[in-house]
Amino acid sequence: MIKQAIIPLAGLGTRLLPLTSVFAKELLPINGKPGIEYILDECIEAGIKEVVFIISKKKEMIRKYFYNDRFYKKILKKKKDLRIKEEYKKILKYKKMIKFVYQNKPLGTGDAVLKTKRFIKGKYFLMLLPDDLIIKQNCSKSMIKVHNQYKSSVMASMNVAKKTVTRWGIYKLKKKLNKKNYLVEKVIEKPSIKKAPSNKAVIGRYILPKTIFSVLSKQKPGKGGEIHITDSIQSLINNSESFIAHNFSGKYLDCGSMQGYIKSTLEIAKI
Ligand code: G1P
Repeated sequence: MIKQAIIPLAGLGTRLLPLTSVFAKELLPINGKPGIEYILDECIEAGIKEVVFIISKKKEMIRKYFYNDRFYKKILKKKKDLRIKEEYKKILKYKKMIKFVYQNKPLGTGDAVLKTKRFIKGKYFLMLLPDDLIIKQNCSKSMIKVHNQYKSSVMASMNVAKKTVTRWGIYKLKKKLNKKNYLVEKVIEKPSIKKAPSNKAVIGRYILPKTIFSVLSKQKPGKGGEIHITDSIQSLINNSESFIAHNFSGKYLDCGSMQGYIKSTLEIAKI
């Protein structure tokens, strides 16, 4: 059973400047609720009991958001406001399940994952990239189902326009298991249009095996000098770990870009 999730939150959020010059992008409100709470709700609904946040000194604001008890208690003493009481209760519920770890140098997603090594107990764990919001269907929940059925690693996927392949991890299909699940043959981080093996992209939800930590500790920097989780996934595939790409049914929203962030508010307001 998958009970633990990790969420890399140390990214600088340059695509959302100027907002992110003083603010953590994951706390920006999407229809009145911080983006990170949508991600946490997805985890809770999928049966996750513990979440490891990878933050940095520059993103202390995220920890403070969950550790502001004195402030809430003072306000609630003065004002018997039911809405504030409920919000505080929700924060307390989240706080109970969150652990923090630091990644102070932006060395890449792979490096962020490696920081969580000492926390992971089970054979597999879930990773969610907070820029990727998936609404209408719980993607993590359906991926956990796939994992339980095939006992393999899983990553979320969707088809993208060929001209945008340079933005994503792109994979080559080995075998179609059924309509929504494919066995992956290889995966490349942000390939050129010429080198892309398909237009099938990896989206920010992964069920990874604990064995990835030993691969990550030896992982050399790849594209853009960063340590990519994609490169370690490829090493695991080379070592016969099977990875399933799960074509999720929900709606994908890219909250890491300004256009996507604005669109996500509009889309969520419609639900
Ligand atoms: C990361 C991954 C990439 C994946 C993408 C999904 O890229 O490295 O393989 O396709 O998330 O959003 P990033 O968004 O950090 O550039």
